[in-house]
Amino acid sequence: MKLKYLTVIVTAFIFLGAGDPNSGKDKVAVCAGCHGADGNSLVGIWPSLAGQNEKYLLKQLRLVKSGDRVIASMTGLLDNLDDSDLQDIAAFYQSNVNSIGVVDESKVDLGRKLYYAGNLEKGVPACSACHSPKGLGNAPAAYPLLSGQQPEYVAKALKDYRSGERINEEPSKIMAAIAYKLDDAEIDALSSFVHGLY
Ligand code: HEC
Ligand code: HEC
Repeated sequence: MKLKYLTVIVTAFIFLGAGDPNSGKDKVAVCAGCHGADGNSLVGIWPSLAGQNEKYLLKQLRLVKSGDRVIASMTGLLDNLDDSDLQDIAAFYQSNVNSIGVVDESKVDLGRKLYYAGNLEKGVPACSACHSPKGLGNAPAAYPLLSGQQPEYVAKALKDYRSGERINEEPSKIMAAIAYKLDDAEIDALSSFVHGLY
């Protein structure tokens, strides 16, 4: 009897991850104005967080809090949150469903080609290798979900990797090495493509 009870607790821990989405929900009132109540942003420069994997979100929240990733519009907002608050917030956003946008028809061919095949001549790898064929990312590896993401934000992120603005540790260096090889038209096509990808 006791053993059975223990097994239930241990199993719950393994499957739930570290954060508690319900307490996370109470901690994101101040975030909703930009990221949307459920994490689906309605404005291009503000990233959607809904459905994003917990591990990636937690990593970014820690980087923002420590100042390694500078986000001017979030200045001070994480100061009073401790690490377990950040875990709850990450769990809350992960538990929501990401909404999908529409791809600009004129950009879909180039976007699709780059996303699934990369560009051999320029040494650009296929995005699908890490971000998955449907743009879902890779949760255990903390590779972010891109499906439905706001195109303006995706373009800015790729340009920030390219310019070195968004460099902190190993994982960003992977993206910097890729974005360095992308021109503006390719970034534009990819940003539109992932917005409608699912
Ligand atoms: C005034 C608007 C604003 C508010 C309020 C705000 N954010 Fe942000 N947030 C942004 C912007 C803008 C970015 C993207 C910055 C960039 O371009 O790199 C961002 C990025 C993020 C990211 C990284 C997303 C990614 O895909 O890498 C996370 C996570 C995040 N915010 C969480 C929060 C949380 C949690 C709160 C509330 C405690 C919050 N934000 C409040 C504007 C805001
Ligand atoms: C080898 C694996 C790998 C490949 C290939 C790859 N990525 Fe990434 N990508 C990552 C990782 C890891 C991160 C998170 C980096 C960080 O922590 O800043 C990331 C982050 C991103 C982000 C930022 C997401 C956000 O929410 O801020 C965008 C946009 C992105 N990648 C687009 C692409 C595109 C487009 C391609 C194809 C041209 C691509 N990636 C290829 C691993 C990869």
